[in-house]
Amino acid sequence: MKVVAVYSIKGGVGKTTAAVNLAWEAARDFRALLWDLDPQGAATYLLQVKPKLKGGVDSLVSGKTRTTAAIRSTEYEHLDVLPADDSYRELDLVFDAAKKSTQRIEKILDAVSHDYDVVILDCPPGASLVAENALRAADAVVVPLVPSPLSLRSLEQVKSIVADSVRPAPIVGFLSMVDRRKTSHREAVVNLPGRNAEVTDIVVPATVTIERMGAERAPVAAFAPRSEAAQAYAELSKRVLLLLKAKKGKSKH
Ligand SMILES: Nc1ncnc2c1ncn2[C@@H]1O[C@H](COP(=O)(O)OP(=O)(O)OP(=O)(O)O)[C@@H](O)[C@H]1O
Ligand SMILES: [Mg+2]
Repeated sequence: MKVVAVYSIKGGVGKTTAAVNLAWEAARDFRALLWDLDPQGAATYLLQVKPKLKGGVDSLVSGKTRTTAAIRSTEYEHLDVLPADDSYRELDLVFDAAKKSTQRIEKILDAVSHDYDVVILDCPPGASLVAENALRAADAVVVPLVPSPLSLRSLEQVKSIVADSVRPAPIVGFLSMVDRRKTSHREAVVNLPGRNAEVTDIVVPATVTIERMGAERAPVAAFAPRSEAAQAYAELSKRVLLLLKAKKGKSKH
């Protein structure tokens, strides 16, 4: 089992959108699990799963609720979801109160390590204990970067947080919500990948097709497979899966 954390310290950059689309792409060839770690439950909603966790996240962390009992299937083959509900607001505190508080995500996933090939973690923004857990469990960290003067800064922040992790995972950055009418965005597309080894040349455009995901409650490839956005996520997934394959044998799980 390989774990991919979709992460940024910044909010609203396209993490959940990437996580849902990457999970859908991964499920075409592998048994995939998307773990929604955000109390907003957006990934859970987009995949039409009920945001209900019996006993709350506390029970899941303490082991009272088995991981398998909390997992829900989706309408897509090989794609399951570990949903978030309101109780995830307390997740940082729950982890903090637990033993080995930075290894709880790894521990919960251990129970299903033979059931899934790929696990995608949809992380909430920020540098919380939840993020620390996710990065510790991760074999790869996918980072959406919205072109702006601050995007390089957030990449540097993610790099330093990942570097502080016990076993730092490779970072795969990509440009998210790119509006080519803006000079600054066009410049970022040219400059960011060339100047930063962690940034791929994959560009997800800012488009109403992605916005439609909320109304359709589906990954973009399910309703617009030929769109530029769907193709970009397919390519991103390909790169990440290749990276994980190359790491074979060195998996943390
Ligand atoms: N490429 C895109 N084009 C247009 N809208 C987009 C694009 N990517 C994401 N969005 C929209 O932007 C909003 C934020 O995206 P998303 O929820 O994926 O970000 P996030 O990083 O997960 O946010 P948070 O930090 O709150 O978890 C959503 O409404 C989403 O539909
Ligand atoms: Mg999100």
